[in-house]
Parts: sequence; structure tokens; C-alpha cells
Amino acid sequence: MKKILIINGPNLNLLGTREPEIYGKLTLNDIETQLKNKAEQLRVEIECFQSNSEGEIVDKISSARNKFDAIIINPAAYTHTSVAIRDAISAVAIASIEVHISNVYSREEFRHKSFIAPVCIGQISGLGVNGYLLALEYFSNI
Ligand code: DQA
Repeated sequence: MKKILIINGPNLNLLGTREPEIYGKLTLNDIETQLKNKAEQLRVEIECFQSNSEGEIVDKISSARNKFDAIIINPAAYTHTSVAIRDAISAVAIASIEVHISNVYSREEFRHKSFIAPVCIGQISGLGVNGYLLALEYFSNI
């Protein structure tokens, strides 16, 4: 069975109460529940991981080598700053998709730059929880 790692970065633990006009009302737990249900339908295995720490995210990606077939990552604010997360994805060479709940391109200019997108096979931005679900569907099909 295909194994897919789902990583959520800083402040995404606050979903549901954090700027709901931008990020919606679903909590991270709601999103992970939807992902688990979808994974069952698609017959893939998932592991969900959230951290506010850049180092922990880097460690999680490093340890994914030989364990996971794909990564779905919302690096949150680290999208726009982290060479370390980009290098970790590049180093493990696991097919990855970058997901954003909001449309980062309709927001502040500093959110338009992603250090992570160039080492991913694609990026989904602005589709809310559906971005994660679509990425899961994509990986279940390849
Ligand atoms: C985000 C967009 C980022 O710019 C922001 O820092 C986040 C969430 C999103 O999912 O829309 O924390 O990744």
C-alpha cells in the first residue's frame, strides 16, 4: 500500500480560530479526519504530522526516506523563508506537493515567493481543504 506523509507547518495547529475569514472554520483535526476518510476510500496509508518548528519538519522529512512514497506539505510561513525545508525535500527525493489553504498569490507580496515549490512536482493554492484531498488523489493514481 502506498504511504503518504502529510506535513503541516507553523500556526496550522490554530486552524478553526486563526483568521477564519482567510483560512476557514475547519480545525486541523477536521482536515486530518477528512484526509483519513479519503485515504481509506483510495486505499492509501497516511501519516499526519504538524510542527511549529522548522528543525522538526526537516527531521521528519529526512526520516521519511525509504518509508514514504510521497509527501503533501503545507509549510505555512516557512514556505517563504526556509531553504532548510527545501533542501530536505530535495535531499530525500520523495515526490512532494505543496498545498496552501489560502490563495497566496492574492495576498501580500511576501507570500508570492515559495522556496519549496521548485522542488515539488506541483503546488495547490487557494482551494482550502480540497487542496490536500486533491493532492492525495493525485498520489493515489500515480
Ligand atoms: C498558508 C499561507 C502562508 O502564507 C501562511 O504563512 C500560512 C498558511 C496557507 O495555507 O494558506 O501560515 O500556508
